[in-house]
Amino acid sequence: MTSTPLKFFFIALLILNSAHAAAKPGKHAVASAHPLATEAGLEILAAGGNAFDAAVAVAATLAVVEPFGSGIGGGGFFLLHDADKNKDVMIDARETAPLAANENMYLDDSGNVKPGLSKEGPLAAGIPGIPAALQHLAKKYGSKPLTETLAPAIRHAKEGFDVTERYRFLTQYRLELLRRYPETAAIFLDKNEIPETGYKIIQTDLGTTLDTIATKGAKGFYKGELAKKLVEGTNAAGGIWQSKDLSKYKVIERSPVKSEYRGMEITTAPLPSSGGIVLSTILSILQNYDLTKLSNGEYTHLIVEAMRRAYRDRAEYLGDSDFVEVPVKRLLSPYYAAGLAAGIRTDKATPSTALPGAANIQAGSDTTHFSVMDKQGNRVAATLSINFPFGSGFIPPGTGVLLNNEMDDFAAKPGVPNGYGLVAGKDNPNAIQPGKRMLSSMTPTFLEYKDRVAVLGTPGGSRIITMVLLATLNFHSGGNATQMVSRPRFHHQFLPDQIGYEPKAFNQNTKLELQLLGHKLVESSREYGNMQVIVWDKKQKALSAASDPRGEGLAKIQ
Ligand code: DON
Repeated sequence: MTSTPLKFFFIALLILNSAHAAAKPGKHAVASAHPLATEAGLEILAAGGNAFDAAVAVAATLAVVEPFGSGIGGGGFFLLHDADKNKDVMIDARETAPLAANENMYLDDSGNVKPGLSKEGPLAAGIPGIPAALQHLAKKYGSKPLTETLAPAIRHAKEGFDVTERYRFLTQYRLELLRRYPETAAIFLDKNEIPETGYKIIQTDLGTTLDTIATKGAKGFYKGELAKKLVEGTNAAGGIWQSKDLSKYKVIERSPVKSEYRGMEITTAPLPSSGGIVLSTILSILQNYDLTKLSNGEYTHLIVEAMRRAYRDRAEYLGDSDFVEVPVKRLLSPYYAAGLAAGIRTDKATPSTALPGAANIQAGSDTTHFSVMDKQGNRVAATLSINFPFGSGFIPPGTGVLLNNEMDDFAAKPGVPNGYGLVAGKDNPNAIQPGKRMLSSMTPTFLEYKDRVAVLGTPGGSRIITMVLLATLNFHSGGNATQMVSRPRFHHQFLPDQIGYEPKAFNQNTKLELQLLGHKLVESSREYGNMQVIVWDKKQKALSAASDPRGEGLAKIQ
């Protein structure tokens, strides 16, 4: 029998826990990659909107003021937590392959991948999902009409926003492509050159397109006049879109991946993003080790070996599960992770070529994330993308809609790396099929203890998952929002077989330890990622938010 003092202790604990469960943040928080987008979200929250209304405003504003990162011509994943219903759901607004697409569309007659075709111009573009997502969020979860939540984005499109250093840097990266399309060059360049900081980017056509979505909803984009312009413009420049590609596009509500790491609940992205499965696999492997008594080198080694194995499985098994069979249950099982952990040597790096599935494989910022929490405790973690900076570079004339180059996230051929060096195994679960969604790495995530919650995510292509992983481990060891976004980063993705790391990630000792274990180290030329985090500490009754110091974003509590 439990003694009386112990009973009191347990009852007090129960009361405390249920108090935490019922607690509300009492304030709003928004963290995004651009101050104007954060302000747009706060404007809607101040006017009585909820986190989902704010998400519409932030996503649409980012589409205008971060044209290199995400957009109306792109897609993404919105992870939602409805506080009243205590329910989590993922809105999958990933682009789809056009119905006229096929597995060999980027191959030449000898079966080799034609460089560029999946990255530049109209043939690189999947069917956009963002307009459908905005309407879905507004209608099913929001409390305000699109005419109100899209107003800030429309204002910034028509009145213009200022070019920043980051804008200039990313323009530089795709300058030749932007110059190739006069419509694009006229909007994003200044007389065909990179604009100076402070130059105003005005997007009149995009403003009109957003107006149409605001008044007519998603059908204003996917059907009628605008859809006709999108299809005709795309095809006149060599694309393969049909009106039914647009009219059939639908967002899909999916159950998030749920996993557990030493008492922390993780809610994250399901397929067609690989993010949730890869993140959960890495954490699940790491649970087999005591990470607290290791040197930096030993600690990094184990994390890298777990990354290597989870990314190998990505290549071998992951694709759009509406089209291919994926053994999700097995991959997420702790027994499976224990098997992977058993193959790790603590004294030696495993060459990736020694893992099954690697034999057929040749060796071979931009996107955006925002996090919102409202005073009721509703949350949104959204990672949105047009893939490379400025996507395909192509705008169907008269629409202002910069199309994505997300088709490059498919594996054009087994074993051939895509733009992020990611490969697929010989059965290619990520092969192109009409209407299929390309595999993503976007990983919007919630982390939860009884008394602490984090909302996070970042852009960064294949490195997204390892960035979210490192922030997750940081949160687990008590890190706050600022520490989570600032932590130096390292990455391994199975192939190429190397540890990529930020200049400040390792000291000399750690580098030496890793080299002695057999790892190849490659320092990245610059820091990477642009993480946006909100942390709600229920015990301390404190809400905090942080925007990655590597970017130009803004995190704000109101
Ligand atoms: O869905 C994906 O995984 C990629 N299209 C994301 C691209 C990205 O994050 C680019 N950022 N630097």
